[in-house]
Amino acid sequence: MANPSILDQPDAARKVDQHNMLELCEKTPQFCAEAIELTREIDIPCEMPQNVIFAGMGGSAIGGELIHDWLRDRATIPISVCREYTLPAYADEKTLVIPVSYSGETEETLSAFAEAVRRKCKVLTLSSGGRLQSLSKELGITHVCIPEGFPPRAAIAYLLFPLAVFMGRLGVVRERSGEVEEALRVLRQVSEESKRSVNFEDNAAKRLAAEISGTVPVVYGFLHYNAVARRIKCQFNENSKVPSRFEVLPELNHNDIMGWEAPQDLLGNFSLIFIRDLLEPPEIKVRIELTEEITATKTKRVCSIWAKGKQKLARMLSAMHIGDFASIYLAIMSGVDPTPTNSITQLKQEMNRRLDKTRNHERKTQSLKRQHAKG
Ligand code: F6R
Repeated sequence: MANPSILDQPDAARKVDQHNMLELCEKTPQFCAEAIELTREIDIPCEMPQNVIFAGMGGSAIGGELIHDWLRDRATIPISVCREYTLPAYADEKTLVIPVSYSGETEETLSAFAEAVRRKCKVLTLSSGGRLQSLSKELGITHVCIPEGFPPRAAIAYLLFPLAVFMGRLGVVRERSGEVEEALRVLRQVSEESKRSVNFEDNAAKRLAAEISGTVPVVYGFLHYNAVARRIKCQFNENSKVPSRFEVLPELNHNDIMGWEAPQDLLGNFSLIFIRDLLEPPEIKVRIELTEEITATKTKRVCSIWAKGKQKLARMLSAMHIGDFASIYLAIMSGVDPTPTNSITQLKQEMNRRLDKTRNHERKTQSLKRQHAKG
């Protein structure tokens, strides 16, 4: 049985959160500043590409997704995210491919990386080590090395901010003055308001966790809150260990909304979380209100996460950070350690075993080096 009172008992909460996920979340603004610092020394190897593809999976793909949403109405070239083994057909020597893998060992990302090299794309890699780092070194490809020892999803600062800085340096986008600084300031504010020492009544993230406890949370975002909605859904999966879904307006009004016509005994197990923003366009505001009206009596709870800040980046990241905190609080309330992701680990190990990856990789690496050497 979930126990919200544990959230205001730091010692008891720490016994559940054995690997300190909450502390990592509280320190995210500090990590963001460190991540920006880390990029200062790095030389971007190429000029403005014709398009950019971020290749990564899970927690390592979300940085690219956030960049995509942030720059969608400003970037002068297409930006996409590849969460697969293979790159889209249009990837060529004018494409900048950025494989991102926290561990540097994710097979889909390594496969996309190898393909980028074979197709002679411009390549820049980011990881905390692993084969992505060693191969990049061997092939003379610029690699951004981020600190190790984090669960990938808790390293969001390092998986996002270097990419944001590089987009500016490459000329993909001109940073509006103070946008990154505002994002850091607002993230600090959210951390201050959501940290463990702020009591339940004053802590929106703790209250959100209590409201959705015992339900399948469905996160509804809109427009540039696509990646944020996905991130929060994944945080509920990985930190809280509960099923979760996300959908985005206006599209969800054309299909997902029909799901709420299901029998009440099924719907009573779901809660809905709307991502809200005081600057949301009028047509989105009306769509949210209507969707709320239609779903209110069907789900167990309807809640909101309100974005903070003025500029887009701050608003996106503030909503994400509140969701991150809520997912950890939900885990702690349920007596679940947020950090271990046993099923993911087990699946990766079993994939390696069944596909005999070690030998396979060795062969692929050798052929990649030979091809690269031929130029
Ligand atoms: C997040 C998480 C996963 C990984 C994903 C890819 O904490 O554990 O979503 O991010 O399995 O692994 P990496 O990030 O090492 O490429």
